[in-house]
Amino acid sequence: RDPFKVTVIGSGNWGTTIAKVVAENTHLHPHLFKEQVEMWVFDEKIPKNPEDKDGEFEMLTDIINTKHQNVKYLPDINLPHNLHANPSLTDAVKDADILVFNIPHQFLSRIVANLKGHVKPEVRAISCLKGFEVGKKGVQLLSSYITDELNIQCGALSGANLAPEVAKEHWSETTVAYQLPKDFKGEGHDVDHRILKVLFHRPYFHVNVIDDVAGISIAGALKNVVALGCGFVEGLGWGNNAAAAIQRVGLGEIIKFGRTFFPECKVETYYQESAGVADLITTCSGGRNVKVAKHMAKSGKDAFEAEKELLNGQSAQGIITCREVHEWLDTCEMTEEFPLFEAVYQIVYNNVPMKNLPDMIEELDSFV
Ligand code: NAD
Ligand code: 13P
Repeated sequence: RDPFKVTVIGSGNWGTTIAKVVAENTHLHPHLFKEQVEMWVFDEKIPKNPEDKDGEFEMLTDIINTKHQNVKYLPDINLPHNLHANPSLTDAVKDADILVFNIPHQFLSRIVANLKGHVKPEVRAISCLKGFEVGKKGVQLLSSYITDELNIQCGALSGANLAPEVAKEHWSETTVAYQLPKDFKGEGHDVDHRILKVLFHRPYFHVNVIDDVAGISIAGALKNVVALGCGFVEGLGWGNNAAAAIQRVGLGEIIKFGRTFFPECKVETYYQESAGVADLITTCSGGRNVKVAKHMAKSGKDAFEAEKELLNGQSAQGIITCREVHEWLDTCEMTEEFPLFEAVYQIVYNNVPMKNLPDMIEELDSFV
């Protein structure tokens, strides 16, 4: 068959990093992939002089295509020259065989709506997003949402992967999960586990491919909520023991959420895969969610102000995910069964004091 054309949808901190990984591999494997990788960019004006925001500017896509750096979302990282920034979503996905979705999840529904009628019916997809879609169909994995809306097969990539470290080519591991579609065209003709491994594996980015899409997606979405809880206790100055306690309770609630709402996911995924407990640990150590929550604790600012002040347009996905999880649990009348997720929601949206966290998650038993 002809080499697969790959398009990355998104160009933020992780979107640009994964586009770099993918473009390095398409360059090395021209028999499998078209060398040029398209990266859709939600284009924006970048001031030529950062001190003069109203002065002359350049478009981000032009900077990426000439300087080969994403100066706003991944500064100081050189990008491969076969990575092409494209401000037109429909042009970027034209004739694509593999779509790699990588945008903050609050923008997914609009992007998917804009893709309808513009992708090949046999295109395959991988979602690198962390979050859920909560709507008429209840709580949905983002890969399932993409499948339902576009009628295409979609897996997921998730792992202990802080983008700046991966971009600097510091070693890490990740998990890709993908299930072959019913209309699989056969090895060598269609995307399978081997193709996905070649597309994403780098000497500094070790990939394990499995089929538990639900397990890795649930862990990836919910660890962002746990990381907010961790950031609150760290910001209060309570130290490592408190942070470990939040992670212990959080892991339990992640597994319970999966068992309750996605019975197809496998418990061993949480313990054995990079997308499981390893991602929880790395995010709680150095992720954006923990930083935003710490800043809230120290400054008294709300989550949205803290995110704006710290992240220069990047997104701490836990802020939205904790609301979505609350809405879903409330619909199911199960908020009390997930006290940490509920406590994080109450702190972020209803100004409940952070110092109440231990009481809110205490497992009351007959000995107390
Ligand atoms: P980001 O947090 O850097 O967000 C910035 C991106 O959002 C930019 O590309 C910007 O153009 C885009 N954007 C802003 N407004 C938009 C709009 N109205 N419509 C469409 N796009 C808009 O994004 P990211 O770090 O690339 O994260 C993408 C996903 O990957 C998230 O779900 C995140 O949880 C996940 N993830 C991130 C990391 C990481 O370390 N950054 C690691 C693993 C997974
Ligand atoms: P943050 O969004 O909190 O930085 O976490 C990134 C991540 O998902 C690491 O795997």
